[in-house]
Amino acid sequence: MKRTMKLALSLLAPLAFGLLAGCERPPIETVQTGYRGTGMEQIYNPRTLLKQASLNQAPAPAEAAGADGPKAGEVYKNVQVLGDLSVAQFSRHMASITQWVSPGAGCAYCHNIENFADDGKYTKVVARRMIQMTQRVNQDWKTHVAETGVTCYTCHRGNNIPTNVWFAPKDRNNANSAMGDLAGQNLASKSVGLSSLPFDPFTPYLKDSAPIRVNSTEAMTGVGNYANRASTKQAEHTYSLMIHMSESLGVNCSYCHNTRNFQSWEESRPQRVTAWYGIRMARDLNNDYMEPLTSTFPGHRLGPKGDVAKVNCTTCHQGAYKPLYGAAMAKDYPELQTLAKP
Ligand code: HEC
Ligand code: HEC
Ligand code: HEC
Ligand code: HEC
Repeated sequence: MKRTMKLALSLLAPLAFGLLAGCERPPIETVQTGYRGTGMEQIYNPRTLLKQASLNQAPAPAEAAGADGPKAGEVYKNVQVLGDLSVAQFSRHMASITQWVSPGAGCAYCHNIENFADDGKYTKVVARRMIQMTQRVNQDWKTHVAETGVTCYTCHRGNNIPTNVWFAPKDRNNANSAMGDLAGQNLASKSVGLSSLPFDPFTPYLKDSAPIRVNSTEAMTGVGNYANRASTKQAEHTYSLMIHMSESLGVNCSYCHNTRNFQSWEESRPQRVTAWYGIRMARDLNNDYMEPLTSTFPGHRLGPKGDVAKVNCTTCHQGAYKPLYGAAMAKDYPELQTLAKP
């Protein structure tokens, strides 16, 4: 009798563990983000937080350089953006972007080291535009990045290309098979947290300006391709963007919304307004900076449809509610704070 019990237990124990593997092991921490009773709480797992924290450390700033002496624009032959810096400040900038973008290959990742003025490497041409893009974010999108700002490191983190970018996905339409028309959804997709929601929330919302709000007050609103018919299908597209936003910040819906009324701005947290600007900022970066670089990039850097890599919330946030948990790196790089005069 005892033996059979033991046997049964030894067989059952692994089965029980197998069933529980889908659950999260405690402890779980909750943080209240809204009024009591509204269920506005963030649920964190300290183990995930620990891993996230180590992935989001900002490097120490380089030692400041003096503004004295001749300007880079006078000394060098082909400086189009950072000409107002002193030679010492310019050198500091070059050393920093090397650390942020190409610590492995060094200066040679962007330069023909026989002639630093040469623009032969596409990476240098892209980097020049990236300097302007970073200045644009820090100067004109304070509504989103505040005084925290961004540097190349916010997106690149020591990598030649940021780990989180997006392309227009391949058409995955099975119109001719038994599956029928997938309508851009119904496949568990990483871009939308493995849900079967529409798997490209980026083209309509972070490149084009499709309407996101679905709780319309009148029937049949919106225009063109993305006419907001406030249908269930439209709501699914909105939800796919919302999943992306939640995932990239490592938060729940209630970080921004009071979920008893998703629409109401009065009941939302101020973070929702910051997010609203973030959506407009991503569109600006993708349309005015990334897209025009398409022909500068070599073919192997382009997506399945020949489009350039683009920015979404994860490109900067990488799982943190503020990139690098709010480390204000940008203040140590004044040359990245304002758009250089042309
Ligand atoms: C990520 C790309 C990148 C890396 C890495 C890089 N540079 Fe540059 N470099 C540029 C860009 C872009 C310019 C032009 C800036 C402008 O137009 O304002 C430039 C310009 C220069 C110039 C001016 C050349 C001239 O005569 O016009 C020098 C000198 C220079 N870099 C040195 C360096 C050194 C030294 C390193 C390594 C420590 C380095 N760079 C690493 C992108 C890079
Ligand atoms: C908002 C995010 C963001 C910021 C900030 C940013 N980059 Fe980029 N960068 C990108 C994206 C997106 C690409 C395209 C990646 C791809 O081709 O897959 C890219 C590509 C590049 C490339 C081309 C690399 C290659 O091998 O093709 C260089 C060089 C580069 N960035 C330099 C810089 C420099 C220098 C800065 C700071 C002055 C900077 N970036 C700031 C997002 C950013
Ligand atoms: C980081 C902040 C943020 C998070 C997290 C977030 N949202 Fe949103 N949500 C917004 C913003 C901003 C808008 C309005 C976008 C616009 O108008 O351009 C919005 C709009 C919506 C709308 C449309 C409301 C209307 O007026 O019709 C719905 C529905 C919605 N969100 C659901 C969700 C769900 C579900 C989640 C969690 C999976 C979520 N949101 C997570 C910021 C957020
Ligand atoms: C270019 C980099 C960049 C991109 C892209 C970006 N963010 Fe941010 N975001 C930041 C920075 C930097 C901050 C910190 C601002 C501050 O300190 O108040 C921030 C802050 C926020 C906050 C405020 C968090 C808080 O608790 O105060 C929200 C919400 C947010 N971002 C949402 C988004 C969403 C949603 C997207 C995509 C639509 C997005 N961000 C894209 C850089 C970025």
